[in-house]
Amino acid sequence: MKFELNLTDSQIKEKEFAKKKYLTNFEKINAYLHSGKEEWTTWVDYPSKNINCLDEIKTIANKIIKDGDVLIVLGIGGSYLGAFACLSAIRSETKVEVVFTGINFSNEDLCETFEKYKNKNVYVNVISKSGTTTETMIAFEYAVSFLKSKYNNDYKEHLIITTDKNKGFLREYATKNNVASLEVPDNMGGRYSVLSAVGTLPLLCAGVDIDKLFKGAYKAEKELQASNENNLAYRYALSRYLLNKRGKQVELLSTFYSRLSNIGAWWTQLFAESEGKDKKGLFVTNLNFSTDLHSVGQFIQQGTPIVFETFLSVDTVQNDRRIVQIDKDSPINYLEGKTVEEVNLAAQKGTIEAHVSANVPVLQILIGKIDEEHMGYLLYFFELACAISGKFLGVNPFNQPGVEDYKRNMKKYLS
Ligand code: PA5
Repeated sequence: MKFELNLTDSQIKEKEFAKKKYLTNFEKINAYLHSGKEEWTTWVDYPSKNINCLDEIKTIANKIIKDGDVLIVLGIGGSYLGAFACLSAIRSETKVEVVFTGINFSNEDLCETFEKYKNKNVYVNVISKSGTTTETMIAFEYAVSFLKSKYNNDYKEHLIITTDKNKGFLREYATKNNVASLEVPDNMGGRYSVLSAVGTLPLLCAGVDIDKLFKGAYKAEKELQASNENNLAYRYALSRYLLNKRGKQVELLSTFYSRLSNIGAWWTQLFAESEGKDKKGLFVTNLNFSTDLHSVGQFIQQGTPIVFETFLSVDTVQNDRRIVQIDKDSPINYLEGKTVEEVNLAAQKGTIEAHVSANVPVLQILIGKIDEEHMGYLLYFFELACAISGKFLGVNPFNQPGVEDYKRNMKKYLS
């Protein structure tokens, strides 16, 4: 397992991590997060407390794997992005296709999804902690009518509800109709819930080894516990905080590894929803290179100097190919004999060098390879860093009051 944070080009001096005022603040935040008494922090020691308690979820997944062709997952925001990101990253072997829907108000999208699988054996996992989210509840309505018309009275056998333990419409529905259900743990917000049933059921059905995912997250939990200047979550959080204080308003999570692009989408939601409040927070977004070098790259290099970049890189890729048989007149004939990953690495090095020379602070995260263990570590690292970072900023990283405004207005127009 390899996980490194390189801050050489971050414009943050090493001595800043050892400053008493930051370390004291971090100590307080860390004690708060690990106290077990605070609200919305169940995720902090979730890996160590649950690494040996995955049987219930495996039993449900095994039934789906044995019997099903497709698992349609309904959920939005933190209720789907974690599993979606891991599935885009990790290559697994499975006969069950896992698809996500209910992430907008599109009749077309929903109809196409259910229509596509009408001749397959379908299971549906609806995921909503609150049980009130409109996108998810509309998708649920489609799903129930699809399952009823396909399986008649057996439709309940094809439904799994993941929701709050005690409350909400979905919990009541599960109890009343005797539908299989899983819990979103108490005091765990959606965007911090990927390791709970929210993420693990879809991942198991897709063939992901969640024991290894937990192993990585557990390792991160243990390694990132110490309240000292070497704690990588602290170093990342403080770097972001200081760069923001020094005028940077945007953080870009850039990767040259397309399999990590949805980890970027998950990261964007995690940080934007956790920090963007009280007129504070960095605007965060993720970029996929080299694609986005041909669009946003120009702005990073020469535009308004408000951005810094965090590069997410991988040491070893699983598939590579040597470039051979190039036409002697081709403009790329100097690449003859190189592998595609060698070109990718050169592009990455060249990009970092260019952005650093344009005075863009660059932070670099390097993982050994894209597999379950590394993903588990990475997810936990970002969750912890995000909570620390939000606390540095003086905001509550576990709520999202701003999301309610559009919902309120929408209801006004529908009532
Ligand atoms: O991170 C969060 O808490 C949110 O993004 C929620 O996951 C999202 O709004 C969906 O909420 P719910 O699970 O209640 O349907």
